Amino acid sequence: MSRQVPIFEVRDLVRSFRMPRTSVRGGQREVQAVTTVSFEVNRGETLGIVGESGSGKSTLARLLLALDRPTSGEILFEGKSIVGLPEKKLRHLRRQVQIVFQDPMGSLDPRMRVGKIILEPIRSLGIEGDEKARLKELVASVGLDADSVNRYPHEFSGGQRQRIAIARALAPRPRVLIADEPASALDVSVQAQILNLLDDLKARFDFTMMMISHDLSVIHHMCERVLVMHRGEIVEIGPTRQVFETPQHPYTKALLASVPTLDGDLPEAPPETLVEAT
Ligand SMILES: Nc1ncnc2c1ncn2[C@@H]1O[C@H](COP(=O)(O)OP(=O)(O)O)[C@@H](O)[C@H]1O
Ligand SMILES: [Mg+2]
Repeated sequence: MSRQVPIFEVRDLVRSFRMPRTSVRGGQREVQAVTTVSFEVNRGETLGIVGESGSGKSTLARLLLALDRPTSGEILFEGKSIVGLPEKKLRHLRRQVQIVFQDPMGSLDPRMRVGKIILEPIRSLGIEGDEKARLKELVASVGLDADSVNRYPHEFSGGQRQRIAIARALAPRPRVLIADEPASALDVSVQAQILNLLDDLKARFDFTMMMISHDLSVIHHMCERVLVMHRGEIVEIGPTRQVFETPQHPYTKALLASVPTLDGDLPEAPPETLVEAT
C-alpha cells in the first residue's frame, strides 16, 4: 500500500512583514516571522510546536488556517495546495481545520448566547444535520452543563470559556485542531484540566492535533513529535522523546536547560480545585 498522504505538507514557507519606518534614521525593516520552513503533519498525531515568544508559532498557525498568506512557499492540505486560493475554494479547509486560541474571550462574541456561539461555525459553513442533538453532544463532551447554552460568555470562568471555545472549534467535526497556547492564559489549577480535556477529545473524536506552547512540560506530556522554532526557523523536529533526551541544536539544548525538571507530569491541581468552581 502506498504511504498515507500527510494531512499537511509545508514546503519552504516564508512569511515576512514590512515594518513601517519607526524613526528618522531607521529605514524600512523586514521581520521574517516564518522563514523557509518545511515539515509534514501526519494524520492522527499530536505535533507540538515549541519556541519562545516571537519565534513565529502563531504566524505559522495562521498560514495553515489560510487566515494569512505566505510571502512564498507551499502548503498542501490533504495533498492539495491552499496557497492563494479565493475564499470560495477554501470551504473544505475552513471546515476541516479549526483553532483554539489562547484567550477565549477574544474569540467569543460577548453578545451571543453560548449555544449560538458553538453552532456558529456549523451555520456559517452550511453544514446540515440535527443542530440540537449536536449542540447537546458538544456541550457534554467538553464538560459543561446542558443549560450553559442559554447563558453568555461573561457568566463563565476562564477555564469554562475555553471549554466553550473548544466545543465551537469541534462543532464542524474538524480533522485538524490547532491549539495555540490553549492553557497559557488560565490559572495554573485549571491548565491541566483543559490540556487533559483536549487529549481526551482527541482520542474520542480522532482528529490530528497541533499543540502550540512555550511550555516544554505541556509538549512533553502531550505530543508524539515536536517541532522547535527559533526566530522563524525550525531548528529541530523529531519524536518528542528523542528531541528532549538528545537535543541536537544549541537552541533546543538551551531551552531544555532552562527547565529544572521535566518529569512529564502537568502541574497538578490541588484536590479541592479538581472540579472547577464557576
Ligand atoms: N501582522 C504582523 N505585522 C508585523 N509583524 C508581525 C505580525 N504578526 C507577527 N509579527 C511578528 O512576527 C514575529 C513572530 O510572531 P508570532 O508568530 O506571533 O510569534 P509567537 O506566536 O511564536 O509568539 C514577531 O516578531 C512578531 O512581532
Ligand atoms: Mg503566539
